[in-house]
Amino acid sequence: MELFEALEKRQSCRNYSSRPVEMEKLIKMVEAARIAPSACNSQPWSFVVVTSPEKVKKVSTNVLESGMNRFCEKVPAYISIVEEPAYLRGDTPNPKYAHGDVGMAVEHLCLAATAQGLSTCIMGSFGSVEKMKDILEIPQESNLRLVLAVGYAEEGDPLRPKKRKALEEICKFL
Ligand SMILES: Cc1cc2nc3c(=O)[nH]c(=O)nc-3n(C[C@H](O)[C@H](O)[C@H](O)COP(=O)(O)O)c2cc1C
Repeated sequence: MELFEALEKRQSCRNYSSRPVEMEKLIKMVEAARIAPSACNSQPWSFVVVTSPEKVKKVSTNVLESGMNRFCEKVPAYISIVEEPAYLRGDTPNPKYAHGDVGMAVEHLCLAATAQGLSTCIMGSFGSVEKMKDILEIPQESNLRLVLAVGYAEEGDPLRPKKRKALEEICKFL
């Protein structure tokens, strides 16, 4: 898929079919995130791919318990994104750019999903963070940033027009 087509087609999906997601496609998504840019090439991220039905159910239940993101009842896979310490120069981690770096990696995940016919929804609200870390088998002290729902959109789920600020509002040309 051409880049600009993928940019247009990527949208937050909140209506998933029960079709399972192929592991090769999930790996390709993480490979795409792996090559995202980051400050001083610090790569301050790690990922947890969840596809086993028992784990998927636990992740979904934790999200649903928050009363948010009801669409998680039907999500077949998740990729969680952890912000890792960013070593820019020297031995002391510097978090200044890590949040932005993680954002770029997540967009790579999303575009790689779109290019493979998959849909995603980035979730900042995913229920109890403590419980989610236990489910994902990551340390409580880790910095779990986002959980990405991944799956095939239900047939007929429409491509919505993008609601965005006008170019003139957000950009000046000098
Ligand atoms: C950091 C972040 C957190 C988000 N959290 C949620 C969420 O918890 N639930 C949800 O339905 N969408 C969530 N979204 C999706 C945004 O609502 C969505 O990207 C935005 O409205 C633009 O719509 P689009 O993704 O369909 O283009 C999140 C997006 C980002 C970048």
